[in-house]
Amino acid sequence: MKNLPVLIITSFYFLFLLYNCITAVNSDTPSNFPVDNITLDCGSLSDHDADDGRKWIKDEPSKFVQTQVQRANTTYCSTAKSLTNWAPKVPYFTARIFRSPFTYSFPVTPGPKFVRLYFYPAQYQDFDASKAYFHVTAGSFTLLKNFSANLVAKSLNQDFFMREFCVNVVQPNKRLDITFVPQSSADYSYAFVNGIEIFSMPADLYYGAQEGMTPPSFVGHSSQFFDITEELALETIWRVNMGGRSIPANDDTGMYRKWSDQGNSILVTDNHLPFNPSHVTKPLEYSKIRKDTAPAEVYQTALSMGNSTAYNIRHNFTCLFPVDRGFNYLVRLHFCEFEDLITKVGDRRFSIYIGNQMAREYVDIIEFSGGNGIPIFQDYVIYIDNKDSLSIDLHPNENSRYPDTILNGVEVFKISKSGNLAGPNPGQQQATPFLNAAEKSTKKKKKTTLFIALGTGTGLLVIIVSWVVLWAVRKKKFFYDSYKGKSNRLSKASSLPEDICRRFSLSEIETATNDFDDELVIGRGGFGNVFRGVIDIGSTVAVKRCKRGSGQGAREFVTEIEMLSQLRYLHLVSLIGYCDDDGEMILVYEYMANGTLRDHIYGSGNDPLSWTRRLEICVGAARGLDYLHEGVRNPIIHRDVKTTNILLDDNWVAKVSDFGLSRIGVSDTAVNTLVKGTFGYLDPEYARSQQLTDKSDVYSFGVVLFEVLCARKPVDGKLEDDQRNLAYWALKCISEGTVQNIVDPFLMGKIAPECFKKFVEVAQSCVREQRIRRPTMRDVVGNLEFALTLQEHADEANRETNPGGVYSYPELSFHDSNDRNVSRYEISGLQSSTNDLSSLGSNETGLSFLSVERESNTANNMFSESATSRSTQ
Ligand SMILES: *[C@@H]1O[C@H](CO)[C@@H](O)[C@H](O)[C@H]1NC(C)=O
Ligand SMILES: *[C@@H]1O[C@H](CO)[C@@H](O)[C@H](O)[C@H]1NC(C)=O
Repeated sequence: MKNLPVLIITSFYFLFLLYNCITAVNSDTPSNFPVDNITLDCGSLSDHDADDGRKWIKDEPSKFVQTQVQRANTTYCSTAKSLTNWAPKVPYFTARIFRSPFTYSFPVTPGPKFVRLYFYPAQYQDFDASKAYFHVTAGSFTLLKNFSANLVAKSLNQDFFMREFCVNVVQPNKRLDITFVPQSSADYSYAFVNGIEIFSMPADLYYGAQEGMTPPSFVGHSSQFFDITEELALETIWRVNMGGRSIPANDDTGMYRKWSDQGNSILVTDNHLPFNPSHVTKPLEYSKIRKDTAPAEVYQTALSMGNSTAYNIRHNFTCLFPVDRGFNYLVRLHFCEFEDLITKVGDRRFSIYIGNQMAREYVDIIEFSGGNGIPIFQDYVIYIDNKDSLSIDLHPNENSRYPDTILNGVEVFKISKSGNLAGPNPGQQQATPFLNAAEKSTKKKKKTTLFIALGTGTGLLVIIVSWVVLWAVRKKKFFYDSYKGKSNRLSKASSLPEDICRRFSLSEIETATNDFDDELVIGRGGFGNVFRGVIDIGSTVAVKRCKRGSGQGAREFVTEIEMLSQLRYLHLVSLIGYCDDDGEMILVYEYMANGTLRDHIYGSGNDPLSWTRRLEICVGAARGLDYLHEGVRNPIIHRDVKTTNILLDDNWVAKVSDFGLSRIGVSDTAVNTLVKGTFGYLDPEYARSQQLTDKSDVYSFGVVLFEVLCARKPVDGKLEDDQRNLAYWALKCISEGTVQNIVDPFLMGKIAPECFKKFVEVAQSCVREQRIRRPTMRDVVGNLEFALTLQEHADEANRETNPGGVYSYPELSFHDSNDRNVSRYEISGLQSSTNDLSSLGSNETGLSFLSVERESNTANNMFSESATSRSTQ
């Protein structure tokens, strides 16, 4: 008891330290950026400061190039023959010239980045600027294609210019490769660049949605959202400060974005000049959006129509922004009511039209932002198909107190389509196959044929309905419109699949796959074969050619196009395009270099995956499913979750594939349909009740988790009765406390016990009989991420105490009888078993798998069992 005061003092001291620790962390990192800030003065032999004081680093020798490449005499550093008065010397005076493909490799952190490319098409040595046609890629994105800086500069009437892109560096990549490829067909072609800038941006600035904000609405697709997901790249086309000055990069909110003045983008009707309300200098209140969304200046200046009500209600406030056709655009409109008159809801209301379509009616900035002086923005996505400009029309609402409009700033971004952002050179007409009248009629025929093929699979009624629909719309619309109309998911007829996914001709597909060369087959199934193919300039794709004649296949074909063309997410396999020529049913996907998850777990002779990699893959796949369940407007139930439908790309990123069986469902209303799925993965409650819910996917995913842990088939007929079904067997082992015995022997000693416990807990909760007791995919993602963290921490601690050495976790090993480890294991097990009881409502099974039973014979039997099942694959 003598020590009590000392104890109290020390406790306080520790609390004090802890407090300091926490506050220090908070104040040091107000936000997690900028992390990457690279400014490379290409072609320069020394570091230079630019006019704005930013330091640009030298390119020769370059930190970002492998030395052998540099010496390979196909790239030169050069200075421009002359520099126009206006061009800033840094970075425009020097350039790097490329005579063959060349890659800069930038070390970066994962997350979204600005990539800015600077061009000054002048004469360098003997290189004539008009000869330079080239491609530029960043990671998997094509930024520029057959690009002529010379033509662009001419059309802009500028000697130099910068192009800004937003690309996402996804885990686990730690590099961003930017590659320049001279156009091979042009004679004596070369590529060049004057400067490259890479700068981190906040993760929710343009991607996803800021807290409390909704994702962009898809104009023309009533009440649909268009998520800017991390596998899309953006190109900044316009960034305008309405009614204000052009804001130089240095005055941005720290991200070096340039804001131009409205220039010629405003269309003045009837000589009625837009009104520029005198700007305010009172501080703004950023209560709705990130403070760095745009500089305060943007929100403190604006353009309106003026105070003639009679004029305003007969006109629109119109802006026109030139854009490339054939792409989706993200349009961000910045608003802030700062005039003293406008303070209440109803004071100023207007409608927003984008691309001549109603984007939103009754816009009331005060209502959206919560008051005068509070900045807000609105995001829209629009597809521009047959125009070369994007129009924004604001129309005042007659019934508001001041029938007028306001606009403070506009940003327009081009959204990548199948990883491509490149438009044609100025003056070059872009091919728009769907608008070509001659092609139209032949295409209509083909689509009609396909539709009949579909109809036979889905019943006479459908045929009749579809013929009626087809006749009704045959003058204007295509197959997809009618299909969509029938399925009643899009209220407006649309050409969505063509909007965001490409239509290939059969000859393109034949070229890509070397005439469906058998050598290129990478997968076979009941549906048909999957080929590896190459399209465009060397991008590898997977080409799935569905067998003809099967009604089921045809349905799934359409389902896949419909689903996938609307879904873009890192953990879902993306659809690049399709081909329906001559009744073919061909789907073109991104190529997944590492094949199926199953092939890396058992039965294929591949090297076994490490435990951490398996965890990462499980987290990725779980995210993919969570996205299907909760990330899209109409929840999608996959219905066929299994290890062969989880694919791995060259970076081992897991992507969920095969939506052939998917159904759009509403999460809380069960969908009653024919039971489908794969034996061994099938949710028993769904099989009994035929009521499909998203929890059926959760069950199947639980089976996947056990498969990953135990490296055996979900159903193995060669095993004893009680072992045949993996899910049942795993649950039995858990309840008997022997689950550690069925773990993949390769993983012995490699799983941290706390991670193991969490993992088994998640898997077990997924395969619970009653679906209401199963977690949601969101919970699964969270728990698996936690399991991964536990493993990483344990690995790190082990590496520290045992640098360079081999370490293992003896706790799971069957032969180990180290007391210390046993007690540690049991304690951690007991602690969280209390959690388990309260949070998961688990019972005896949750507790019992924690007690380690040591019976080496059983273990050996199990291992040899799973070894047998492996060899008999
Ligand atoms: C305003 O623009 C929209 C979309 O372009 C158009 O439909 C509407 O008729 C215009 N209204 C007026 C008064 O010009
Ligand atoms: C590249 O662009 C030029 C100029 O616009 C055009 O004439 C040429 O056909 C294009 N080449 C290819 C391969 O697209």
